[in-house]
Amino acid sequence: MVKINIDGKVYEVEPKNNLLQTVLSLGLDLPYFCWHPAMGSVGSCRQCAVKKYADENDQKGRIVMACMEPVVDGMRISLNDPEVKKFRENIIELLMTNHPHDCPVCDEGGECHLQDMTLMSGHNYRRYEFNKRTHNNQYLGPFINHEMNRCIACYRCVRFYREYAGGRDFNVFASRNRVFFGRYEDGVLENEFSGNLVEVCPTGVFTDKTYKKHYTRKWDLTTAPSICHNCSLGCNIIAGERYGTVRRITSRYNGQVNGYFICDRGRFGYEYVNSDKRIKQPLRRGQASGELEAVDISTAFEFVKKIVNKKGRLLGIGSPKASLESNYALQKLVGKENFFAGVSQTEHRVTRKAINIMQNGPFNVPSLRETEKADVVLVLGEDVTNTAPLLALSLRQAARVRPMELPISMNIPTWHELAAMEIIQDELGPFFVLTPSETKLDDLATATYRNAPDNIARLGFAIAHEIDPSAPGVDDLSEEEAKLAKQIARELLNAKKPLIVSGVSLMNEKILEAAANIGRAINEKQKTADLFFALPEANSFGLAMLEEKALDDALQAVEAGKYDALFVLENDLYRRMEKERVDNLLSAAEKVVVLHYLPNETTQKAHLVVPVGPFTESDGTLINNEGRAQRFFQVFSPEQTIKESWRWLAGFMEDNGLIAEDELNNLDDVINALTAEYPQLQAVKEAAPDSRFRINGQKIPRQSHRFSGRTAINAHVDVSEHKPPQDEDSPLSFTMEGYQGPAPSAALSRFWYPGWNSNQAVNKFQVEVGGGLHGGDPGVRVFKAQLTNKTEYFKDVPAAFKAEKDQWLAVPIYLFYGSDELSRLTPGVEEVIPSPFILLNEKDAEALKSSRVKIHILNRTVELEVKTSPTFPQGMAGIPIGMPEIGFVNLPIMAKITG
Ligand code: SF4
Ligand code: SF4
Ligand code: FES
Repeated sequence: MVKINIDGKVYEVEPKNNLLQTVLSLGLDLPYFCWHPAMGSVGSCRQCAVKKYADENDQKGRIVMACMEPVVDGMRISLNDPEVKKFRENIIELLMTNHPHDCPVCDEGGECHLQDMTLMSGHNYRRYEFNKRTHNNQYLGPFINHEMNRCIACYRCVRFYREYAGGRDFNVFASRNRVFFGRYEDGVLENEFSGNLVEVCPTGVFTDKTYKKHYTRKWDLTTAPSICHNCSLGCNIIAGERYGTVRRITSRYNGQVNGYFICDRGRFGYEYVNSDKRIKQPLRRGQASGELEAVDISTAFEFVKKIVNKKGRLLGIGSPKASLESNYALQKLVGKENFFAGVSQTEHRVTRKAINIMQNGPFNVPSLRETEKADVVLVLGEDVTNTAPLLALSLRQAARVRPMELPISMNIPTWHELAAMEIIQDELGPFFVLTPSETKLDDLATATYRNAPDNIARLGFAIAHEIDPSAPGVDDLSEEEAKLAKQIARELLNAKKPLIVSGVSLMNEKILEAAANIGRAINEKQKTADLFFALPEANSFGLAMLEEKALDDALQAVEAGKYDALFVLENDLYRRMEKERVDNLLSAAEKVVVLHYLPNETTQKAHLVVPVGPFTESDGTLINNEGRAQRFFQVFSPEQTIKESWRWLAGFMEDNGLIAEDELNNLDDVINALTAEYPQLQAVKEAAPDSRFRINGQKIPRQSHRFSGRTAINAHVDVSEHKPPQDEDSPLSFTMEGYQGPAPSAALSRFWYPGWNSNQAVNKFQVEVGGGLHGGDPGVRVFKAQLTNKTEYFKDVPAAFKAEKDQWLAVPIYLFYGSDELSRLTPGVEEVIPSPFILLNEKDAEALKSSRVKIHILNRTVELEVKTSPTFPQGMAGIPIGMPEIGFVNLPIMAKITG
């Protein structure tokens, strides 16, 4: 710790950050633009000026940029010296000369960092009376609006897009005071993290186009802390609603998980919740019409009563996208032995294997944010940009960890981006990508290896053997493969923080075993490796903790005549198993009850469809890929007929005397029952404060104290103010009433602070700017990593894959847009989903002599357009998953292809 003097007051601080970050961490206000805690300092905007004095006798001082100043013991500075205040005011006046006077029509207005900093700097009168510089705007795709005239040339956008996120189709053009930030030409921004420009840009140049379509000011949004449901990483988000429509998703800072950012699928793939196809009333199949017809709630309960009377003959199928509480409630309704995970046997088996490996060690399972600190990265078989997008962003930062050692050795602090980048230039650390097809991380790779999944696993086994010869070795590797295994092993062993990234998307257990062996081998050398696995869906971990049996087992049980009725929870089974088999499953049951929010092939087969809330209308817990239980809260209270799945199911149980009256009355009751039955999930209780939590006797409001028009909401019905809905499940209220001060991090529904109306207000909620949130970051791990060696090496090295004539190994290809079940139903996302294709090696494609081919899998044939790659292994076919045009295929599988 060192002592610094700010405007006559002495503070004790850690000297590790720059002066701006330190000042902000002390809770003081100092304007800034170009600096961002995740991206470091470049000193370009000159807004963060402070006076620095040589010693106590220095009365004059000199102006320095706080973001470029290291903190040193005895430092004396002033934020309030009149000269430096005037300097900051002048700078902002300059920045504002070309800025339009359009705050009232700007989507950023009211939550704009430029507005805040203008006020903070004291600039309040425009003297500039000449024409302003203007630019043409670009079409940047369905998600981001461009309004270049509002630019203040801080360069944050281009630094984020190109340097932080690795995008190449965006840049800064022209020179002097005519610089332009955009694409080379109009077109959809290609980077998967482009939506962060909306939050990174301190003005209204980049704004959320989906929000614009149903815009409302920030203060008129009802907001709640939530968790993204579009992959397994569990990024923290804030969902905002007005008048029953979800208006936008923004990132919610979590120092352990997603930091400041989220991916575009998470940000923009939400509008399915607003779909006019939403199921809003119970639907019962009419006896006469044979069609699904809307019925009232009591009819739905009667329907279920008739089924539940035959207890013991009920089967429940859960979902990896539904909350832990909803899966548990279904399990309780049907009985543990009659509950099945609603995923294919392959997916379930591989997911459970990944979880077992993570739980048993011996390695550290890092948080997503921790992966940024790895100095050597090995990606084994997972195309993370598409399966676990934000992990790709983290790995991009990890690639710079090793090169940063040089500036550090020269006493250049890591936050000094400008100097550090001058030294490291394009240098990257050891980074290896072993996947069947090209990935967007290849540009970081020291070496890539393109091969079949089993061959990737073999190389993984060989790496483990190189590190520890007692690990099983691999025969007949090629010379290059053996050399690569040695190189990777050497780098991993030399690493201070080696990271092995893998996942289940190739549905190959051997890859996971190879990753585990590498981790264990490193442990044998008295080091600890980090092992990070991506899982298929938002709650795959949670579902796997509840259940061992999968969908294929359910089919067998139904075919054996064990069941009369099926309950399907938030799941379209046609995405999980072959069509004929799902048909068999659903037709073998006398009655099918489906709980869902949107119609799909499964609801079409139901006898009763129960309208449930999607994540924006439900409370619940998800367990992410690293075993972190995180709570999401409903943003608004939906129509009476829509309830959380767990609430419907608790109601069915109560109505049929399966539980005592009010036994599962609210979310806390369900969590208590769940954790009593599954003590290993005890941590779920700690994921967020329960419904009894109060601050000064008050709830935490979902609405800000500036929320307007409350009495107008029902003005078309009557002019009195209706009683607001009550929230029995959480510490949050649906109104502006309640405690508006800082709340526990898991229950923070917005980042807002006096004088800080933009998302930069998060500074005020962090212990140290850029670090953890006060009270700890949200979420609790359900298991502890086992760092000591108690496991055996996996011994079964798979046989090498060899291409065979007329036989193709079909493997899954995961798409950023299109493979995920729900985000693909969002209008903007629909525009950017590629058409279905098959990926082949270009030589294989040439031999087939056709731009469209037929792939024959079991008894099905699908015709697909051919995409080619020079590096995709010969004898393999990549099939995009989750595309209705292709349907479910239990990949990997051997198939035939004809031209
Ligand atoms: S577009 Fe925004 S982020 Fe980019 S330079 Fe201009 S003001 Fe800064
Ligand atoms: S990385 Fe995954 S969890 Fe995070 S925002 Fe994207 S889809 Fe959502
Ligand atoms: S924030 Fe310091 S110069 Fe821009």
